[in-house]
Amino acid sequence: MQDFAGKLAVITGGASGVGRSLAFALGAEGAKVLIADVDKTALANTEQALKDKGIEVHTSVCDVTQQQSLNDLAAKAFDELGGAHLVFANAGVAAGEAGPLWGYSDNDWKWCFDVNFWGVVNTVNAFMPKLMAQAASDEQESHMMITGSGNGAFLVYPDQPVYSATKAAVQAVTEALYQQMAIAQSKVKIHALFPGPHIVDTGIFDSDRVRPDHFAKAADAPDSGIRTTEDLRELMESYGAELKTTHPDEVAQTALQGIRDDRFWVVEWNEQTREKVETRMQSILNKTNPIPATLG
Ligand SMILES: NC(=O)c1ccc[n+]([C@@H]2O[C@H](COP(=O)([O-])OP(=O)(O)OC[C@H]3O[C@@H](n4cnc5c(N)ncnc54)[C@H](O)[C@@H]3O)[C@@H](O)[C@H]2O)c1
Repeated sequence: MQDFAGKLAVITGGASGVGRSLAFALGAEGAKVLIADVDKTALANTEQALKDKGIEVHTSVCDVTQQQSLNDLAAKAFDELGGAHLVFANAGVAAGEAGPLWGYSDNDWKWCFDVNFWGVVNTVNAFMPKLMAQAASDEQESHMMITGSGNGAFLVYPDQPVYSATKAAVQAVTEALYQQMAIAQSKVKIHALFPGPHIVDTGIFDSDRVRPDHFAKAADAPDSGIRTTEDLRELMESYGAELKTTHPDEVAQTALQGIRDDRFWVVEWNEQTREKVETRMQSILNKTNPIPATLG
């Protein structure tokens, strides 16, 4: 797909960060956007900001952990708004786990898997049947882009096992879905988006703002205490490391280019990460023991 004008793009987690930037980037190209998010206030703010730019925007309060919520979103896109040719399964959270792996709050594991992993599965379940049916009666390609993370898909860091585990699972699902569509020579294209090349300056460190009460962290559970990119910058500087960041608007441009180029791996490497991935791959192939990776 080269031209996004007039297409409807559905974006989960569309109220903030990468999802919000995707909405602006697609809107600037003439697409209509349906942004879905669990955060009502952020959703309303983003809706207004998109309208101020003259972008056609629709919203849906949606919880990706609930299959029915995604089914309702898909019904809105296809039954009310005439169909979607771009779907971004993007909503995600970080649980702020810290310290030894066996001491984490069960709710950190459960919440993070519920949003990051089940959120993707629920989105696939809701949208793929409709995208496939649309493709059968429509000459146009459509695209589902799933936001994963190099943290889990390519590398495992010692300090974020919960997040890494969810994103490793997301990668397996995304890649299998891609292969199924490739075998079927489907007009529905699957893409894996890896925001970067550096840590993307979004609300991800403050994911607790949308953590539901039933997944509250146990009071005595270890927490990283990092709530903003600045907190992480200070921590890294305290041990002499520099934190480089990427603006989410840059990620949105990478994402759109990935669709234009029909690439599965939608990723911008930085040299340090590329080297770490190469080291890990060599460790697997050569059966040498892993070297703990550092963030950044
Ligand atoms: N920021 C980074 O450096 C980075 C790196 C790699 C991958 N990612 C991934 O990018 C995606 C977007 O995150 P971001 O960095 O823009 O963070 P963000 O916090 O700015 O945006 C995430 C959005 O998801 C929404 N959300 C959370 N739980 C939800 C739920 N249950 N249902 C619906 N919406 C929900 C939040 O309200 C928020 O608007 C995530 O999948 C994240 O894992 C981020």
